[in-house]
Amino acid sequence: MRGLFQTLFDDDVLVGEIDPRQVTASQLLPGEVQLIRHAVAKRKREFTAGRVLARLLLTRLGVAPGFELLMDDDRAPRWPEGFVGSITHVERWAAVAVARTDQAISLGCDLEVDQPLAQEEWSVVCGPRELAWLEAQPRERRGRLAKLLFSAKETVYKAQYPLTRTVLEFGDVEVEIDAGGGFETMLETISGPRHRGSVLRGRWRADGGLIATAMTIRPGARTAGSLDVPE
Ligand SMILES: CC(C)(COP(=O)(O)OP(=O)(O)OC[C@H]1O[C@@H](n2cnc3c(N)ncnc32)[C@H](O)[C@@H]1OP(=O)(O)O)[C@@H](O)C(=O)NCCC(=O)NCCS
Repeated sequence: MRGLFQTLFDDDVLVGEIDPRQVTASQLLPGEVQLIRHAVAKRKREFTAGRVLARLLLTRLGVAPGFELLMDDDRAPRWPEGFVGSITHVERWAAVAVARTDQAISLGCDLEVDQPLAQEEWSVVCGPRELAWLEAQPRERRGRLAKLLFSAKETVYKAQYPLTRTVLEFGDVEVEIDAGGGFETMLETISGPRHRGSVLRGRWRADGGLIATAMTIRPGARTAGSLDVPE
């Protein structure tokens, strides 16, 4: 399972992964401690794993080790000037991806436990075309594929949010999974004409009981018109 995300990002994106049960809150910096002072133990471990990994990667890229990774009111991490990143965690695994802004204008990653999404959730997460695709899959695989769709949407959400500051509903994102480990998404109904029809591509992998999805939005996306982000 180590290196779950390595193949999901290109080499110019640094990725770190760790078991949150291996970190302690003493590894946080004072401003970060404040952010989770009222949190339960599980949240503290997962948050700490994200911060520890982020610090390790940012330091490798030349950021001072004393940099505190704080968050906005909407919980989006406040990456240092010149860097983008994404954080994901479940109880037994955490991953962080970081890149310089000349390599990527945004990153997204998501981890989920690879267990079927409850059937009553399918119509919450999936639109008509995604439901039709699920119906066409072998019955025993449908629940886990629904979970994969869920994860891909969370990744898209995290990748687009720092660029658009748009809160998306599941129905705003339509995902097409390809069996070879890719996915494509069309931000069809995202509010406002600026983003309508934006196509973004990501990668996925299921291994060791986890589903991992990831997306890199490249600087060219601005000019190629595939994601018309505000300047
Ligand atoms: C933000 C969200 C996507 C996180 O996903 P999750 O599966 O609950 O949890 P993960 O562990 O994978 O990710 C958590 C990390 O996401 C990051 N995050 C939180 N809000 C974010 C945002 N608005 N933009 C980018 N990243 C964000 C944080 O780093 C957080 O970790 P931290 O609090 O320890 O720093 C989810 O909680 C959420 O708010 N979703 C609402 C929107 C949605 O689901 N729309 C439908 C999909 S299109």
